[in-house]
Amino acid sequence: MKKEVDINPYSRKQFLKTAGSTALFATLGIGFVGCSDSSMDAISSEPSMRPGSDAITISNNGNKIEIDLNDDSVSGLRSEGGWLLVDDARTLVVNVGDNVIRAFTSVCTHQQCFRDWRFSNSLFECTCHGSRFNTSGEVVRGPATRDLAEFTVVIENNTVTITK
Ligand code: FES
Repeated sequence: MKKEVDINPYSRKQFLKTAGSTALFATLGIGFVGCSDSSMDAISSEPSMRPGSDAITISNNGNKIEIDLNDDSVSGLRSEGGWLLVDDARTLVVNVGDNVIRAFTSVCTHQQCFRDWRFSNSLFECTCHGSRFNTSGEVVRGPATRDLAEFTVVIENNTVTITK
């Protein structure tokens, strides 16, 4: 069962930034409900949305990405296993459960394919040549030999801000 997010964007104004690139929903007025299964086995391999949504703003030459979780076009990202490929900013975003969102470069460390991704069973796969990476960006299957670079994620008022 996927976790569902109860969006209540203005109930609290709090800010959280964790070390590395994780961010927690728990203190942001966003609550997951109805979860009894922490696995991500049932998630779709398709991204939660396609590029071009008004929910996403890219600035600073692609180095800053803002995602409005209130927008229904990104509703999948509110739930564990939801993920996005922000093609224009070459970034992968995933809700890894336990109220954490992480972001990584979508430029594969093998031969730099950047838009040929799928995600299932908690693994990203670059379909160019089949390299796989876990939700920490670590290579778990080649031909890639280097991990994906991870970006900083901050969530405030239901807006996910990713900074490279
Ligand atoms: Fe990603 Fe080759 S470019 S596996």
